[in-house]
Amino acid sequence: MQVVFAPQATPKTGTVVVGVLDGGKLDTAAATLDKASGGTLRRALQAAPKFEGKRGQILDIPAPAGLRLDRIIILGVGKSADLTSSSAEDMGGDLVAYLNRQGISEAVAMMGLDGNGSQSKGKKQKGGTPDDSEATRAAAYALGAYLRAWRFAKYRTKDEAKDKLSVKKLTFTLANPDQAKKEFATAKAVAEGVFMTRNLVSEPPNVIYPESFAAECQELKALGVKVEVLGVKQMQALGMNALLGVGQGSARESQMVVMQWQGNPGAKKEAPFAVVGKGVTFDTGGISLKPGDGMWDMKWDMAGAGTVAGLMRALAGRKAKANVVGLCGMVENMPDGNAQRPGDIVKSMSGQSIEVLNTDAEGRLVLADVLWYCQTRFKPAAIVDLATLTGAIIISLGNEYAGLFSNDDALSADLTTAGNSVGEKLWRLPLHDNYNKMINTEAADMKNISGGRAAGSITAAQFLQRFIKDTPWAHLDIAGVAWSTQDKGSIPKGATAFGVRLLDRLIATRYERK
Ligand code: BES
Ligand code: MN
Ligand code: ZN
Repeated sequence: MQVVFAPQATPKTGTVVVGVLDGGKLDTAAATLDKASGGTLRRALQAAPKFEGKRGQILDIPAPAGLRLDRIIILGVGKSADLTSSSAEDMGGDLVAYLNRQGISEAVAMMGLDGNGSQSKGKKQKGGTPDDSEATRAAAYALGAYLRAWRFAKYRTKDEAKDKLSVKKLTFTLANPDQAKKEFATAKAVAEGVFMTRNLVSEPPNVIYPESFAAECQELKALGVKVEVLGVKQMQALGMNALLGVGQGSARESQMVVMQWQGNPGAKKEAPFAVVGKGVTFDTGGISLKPGDGMWDMKWDMAGAGTVAGLMRALAGRKAKANVVGLCGMVENMPDGNAQRPGDIVKSMSGQSIEVLNTDAEGRLVLADVLWYCQTRFKPAAIVDLATLTGAIIISLGNEYAGLFSNDDALSADLTTAGNSVGEKLWRLPLHDNYNKMINTEAADMKNISGGRAAGSITAAQFLQRFIKDTPWAHLDIAGVAWSTQDKGSIPKGATAFGVRLLDRLIATRYERK
């Protein structure tokens, strides 16, 4: 979908989108059209008493009297006090969904309100550049639309026209289009990262497996990302037996992908920021086999790794002035004659031994070695891991918040703030030595399950923490948020790419505001 920003002007033909505030007040663009059409908009509002201008409401006027326009689409923008970038983003998502449902290919969305909800005439705002808040909202509006215009349909050979995305071009008109254009260019690079993640996560598990995932990461070299891929031999030499044990029942070779983005060469000697992702390309549970019903969902058990890859793409795409390493532990968890057994004891790269009592608690085994490798090699300033780690986090938080576990209050606060500003919400859960003790065992240094159902996400996080040195660390359990069964705002149903925008924002605020 093409996105264009243009100076404010009222189109004479085609589809125009304008706004009405909660309470029925027309914005400047709507008022202009109303006047030009001899009151068509006001009459339409009167004829539709349930359209109050609430966020999410839509009133569509085809072939408006007195004008040569095809349609005027009135969006409810809600209360003026709620006019923010995030509501603009949702509005963009809803707009694209609506245009697609109607089979419309082009539209012009007119910005008609400034940040305070008063009507904008391109005048200078106190203490700011002209219409900067309007430009920022226009860029967010466009981003929401752009992100929503995504669909994973490459395997459909009998796609009907009604299922296809119809919108090809959206134009946003405002007083300061250049500013919006600039802001959108950055946002678009991040969106391309989001799309990379959504695509990787959506691919079926016969297409995306450790080696093919690594091959997709190699593509990032073209954008300036350093990419290394370690195979089984190299990981054996490193002693990564916890990760390797998970993959040993698979016909697909396990891989570790190491990506580096050095966008701040001046700070090359400083410790990088590190991101680690769980990449189980399919999780059958192994010998501790999962039930068949719903097992197909386990193709997205590599969402953490998919997010790391998409984040690297976003950073490289917008040329982030930060040094970031991204590591993905890629395995397929299969039952097989050579598969790991419940009861096996493996020695992790850290030297600590693990009794594998349940082969379905495999993500923590993979992360244990990748986290250790990451810290040993890069000595990062901070490390964040993302993993669809536990079903228990869905019991705790549902599909609304991801679980956050951390040894560092500042990192937790920064992550939460970044998440709130991009609509990827985090909720912190506790770590405590009493939970940590729950994974002690007789036969080895630790076991990979606690045994009971209590605090399942926390004991998983405690397990990971045993592989964290002194590094500030946060673990995001994204099992509840990596996949959505519903369309919502800028996120169509399916793979959400939760974490790409959050971490991009975190990196921007922590490392690029100098
Ligand atoms: N990949 C799953 C967790 C998961 C469940 C992700 C549902 C997304 C949706 C993970 O590897 C797993 O199987 N965890 C087990 C742990 C248990 C055996 C201690 C779980 O949550 O049941
Ligand atoms: Mn599992
Ligand atoms: Zn898993």
